Amino acid sequence: MHIRPKPWARPELEACGFFQAYPPDHRGQWQPLFKKKQPLHIELGCGKGTFIAALGSRHPEINYLAIDLIDAVLGLTKRNIESAYTNKNRAIDNVQIMSWDIERIDMILAPDDGVERIYINFCNPWPRRRYQKKRLTHSKQLEKYKKLLSENGEIYFKTDNDDLFGDSINYFEAAGFAVTTLIPDLHAADYPGNIETEHEKMYAEQGIKIKFLIATIG
Ligand SMILES: C[S@@+](CC[C@H](N)C(=O)[O-])C[C@H]1O[C@@H](n2cnc3c(N)ncnc32)[C@H](O)[C@@H]1O
Repeated sequence: MHIRPKPWARPELEACGFFQAYPPDHRGQWQPLFKKKQPLHIELGCGKGTFIAALGSRHPEINYLAIDLIDAVLGLTKRNIESAYTNKNRAIDNVQIMSWDIERIDMILAPDDGVERIYINFCNPWPRRRYQKKRLTHSKQLEKYKKLLSENGEIYFKTDNDDLFGDSINYFEAAGFAVTTLIPDLHAADYPGNIETEHEKMYAEQGIKIKFLIATIG
């Protein structure tokens, strides 16, 4: 994703009560940062955060972590969260955001954190073979997520990209996940409670089918 630098983003994030500047400090200790101890779900590559803002403000009974690599993007996530929670008249007490490279997710999350669900929405498809290991659904990554997910933990994955979707089904199965839901055209399926991400909206407007799956630890 190409995004212009935003000099305001880092200072604004550091002044914000739900941004963690050095996430490894909280490895194995995320729950105390939230108002209540409750199930933990995470979003990987949250982008501008419209998804996590809507999801978190709709579900006060879940705690959320949203992770992205780029401060400029996370600055927008922060603002989107503030606006969604303000609209619902809710305190921001069930979401934390952070800049981190998901390839090193094991440095910020431990099995004790008990992640129950991971969302991966429209991750970069890395079409060239030699870069495919960087895909957030690559088996190499799935092995890391498996160690973090609790029993019956699940991954919700959406993409516009047919090759990434097909390859990801193989990655999930190779890593020992069971694909329990597979929807090749999510918007036609009228799946209940779907929240559109920024990229989802853009691709759907171009007439591209949105592909969705849920993979569960077997
Ligand atoms: C194509 S965008 C999708 C954004 C959003 N999920 C959506 O659906 O609109 C991919 C996002 O993943 C982030 N990303 C890519 N690789 C990452 C990594 N290794 N660690 C953290 N974030 C990453 C990018 O910065 C970008 O914001």
